[in-house]
Amino acid sequence: MASLSNLKESPGKCVENSVFHVKGARSLSWGMKDRLSRIFNPRTGKTVMLAFDHGFIMGPTSGLERIDLSIVPLIPYADCLMCTRGILRTTIPANSTKPICLRADTGTSILTDLNDNVPIDIEEAIRLNASALAVMVAIGDEAHEARTVANLSRIVDWANRYDIPVLGVTSIGKQVARDARYFGLASRICAENGANIVKTFYCEGFEKVVAACPVPVVIAGGKKLPEKEALEICYNAINDGAAGVDMGRNVFQSSSPVAMIQAVHAVVHQGLTPKEGFEMFRELAGGK
Ligand code: R5P
Repeated sequence: MASLSNLKESPGKCVENSVFHVKGARSLSWGMKDRLSRIFNPRTGKTVMLAFDHGFIMGPTSGLERIDLSIVPLIPYADCLMCTRGILRTTIPANSTKPICLRADTGTSILTDLNDNVPIDIEEAIRLNASALAVMVAIGDEAHEARTVANLSRIVDWANRYDIPVLGVTSIGKQVARDARYFGLASRICAENGANIVKTFYCEGFEKVVAACPVPVVIAGGKKLPEKEALEICYNAINDGAAGVDMGRNVFQSSSPVAMIQAVHAVVHQGLTPKEGFEMFRELAGGK
């Protein structure tokens, strides 16, 4: 309770209690900050997003055939869940209370032509109480760059009306090099077009990608690697300034997904080294 002396202190002013913990978000509105704070832990400023939206382009990818069995047990260890509306409604318990990063574009599959996407309706995101919207942006892909940048811009316009942050997902064009110059360019384009979070891949010189991006950068895991290598990538990315991971296959295709997500969480939020993280993984996995 405020004491009398507190009440006398600068009565015409309100004490600012905190500096906002998410990069580039200081001047955003309350609703945006509230949603970003559900995704990025206010204590560490970091996040472990669990991505399992692969099925919308790949069908039943290995590890995602039965999301009720493979992903639902991981929910308690994730900071945020990234998925499509179809999986959310059918398979994710509505009482899990985890923030949802909803896949907000939809389009072609691996059987035809990736990235020929269009946005879903913003009302869907509101109905589903999304904490963020994810949109693919295919920089360097001649056939789809213009459309996917327009998708991002359109979704940002809609999402800003309702204070919902947008995550720009950088897709890798076939003709471009997977290096800091390209990921830096793609990330910056997402941010310039209004994304509040950017997801890209780890690479040499990643600190330059992060430094030149005015919003938090989280890394995708990419194809399945041995657990120790995946933890090394997480550690290096965090050390180079990433605000977390948005990881899928390296978690749900692990020999022990429950152990892996906890090890990733400890590397991201507690700064465990890859060696410590791997020891934790092995211990939790029962020596696997
Ligand atoms: C790609 O469109 C999706 O956003 C995936 O969710 C993303 O690539 C992250 O998954 P992974 O760690 O398996 O690469």
